[in-house]
Amino acid sequence: MNKNLRKAVIAGNWKMNKTRPEAKKLLEEIKPLVASADGKIEVIACVPFTNLETAINTVNGSNVKIGAENVHFEASGAFTGEISADMLTELGVEYVIIGHSERRQYFGETDETVNKRTIAALNAGLKPIVCVGELKWERECAITEEVIARQIKLDLFSITAEQAKNIIIAYEPVWAIGTGLTATPDQAQEVCAFIREQLAKLYGKETADAITIQYGGSMNAKNAAELLSKPDVDGGLIGGASLKAEDFNVIVQAAVNG
Ligand code: PGA
Repeated sequence: MNKNLRKAVIAGNWKMNKTRPEAKKLLEEIKPLVASADGKIEVIACVPFTNLETAINTVNGSNVKIGAENVHFEASGAFTGEISADMLTELGVEYVIIGHSERRQYFGETDETVNKRTIAALNAGLKPIVCVGELKWERECAITEEVIARQIKLDLFSITAEQAKNIIIAYEPVWAIGTGLTATPDQAQEVCAFIREQLAKLYGKETADAITIQYGGSMNAKNAAELLSKPDVDGGLIGGASLKAEDFNVIVQAAVNG
């Protein structure tokens, strides 16, 4: 990545894992390991809603930031089971994952709702981690770029350049998530560079260069260094490997050195 232009961000996506005591234990393990990354890269743990308060208290005074895994687009009202952006900021949450492929696949989220959630998050002062990525079938049909271009355009619709600087884009090829199949460093670089081109079309080169673009999809302690050595891969969104403190730290250190 180009460290003169933007900051590397390593974010764990815990998904539906860990009770509160387990969350506290894992964060207590992670904190001292990643302390040396302070000021060099951003380290985030995105945790289930029920763990947010515990997580925020546990990382207090450390360089680990806390994110949520989703947010609703309405401010309040009759939306049973949903959580608003203000509820998250009031807790001290700083980041939120939006449009993860599991949300799109299993919970009916669309580019339209991803866009609305992103706007709601930005308006509340949260930093959205907006996920995009193609299905295996779409890659096989050679329409990866079409799919990504469409997602970027729709997911960021009506968002200004000033707001876009607070967004992180996570490129997560759906076929690589939780499958053990990782995009090759060249594949990751190709699509991350393509995403930056799309951002430049929307916001100009200077803004596009300032936006952090992560790769996600079976990134682990073994493959992280090579993926993160690519110029447009500015970090990682890490699922499985973020649940093991040692592995997560290897990835963090790879980003510090990359
Ligand atoms: P994985 O998940 O690292 O377990 O593949 C990544 C993600 O879903 O963000």
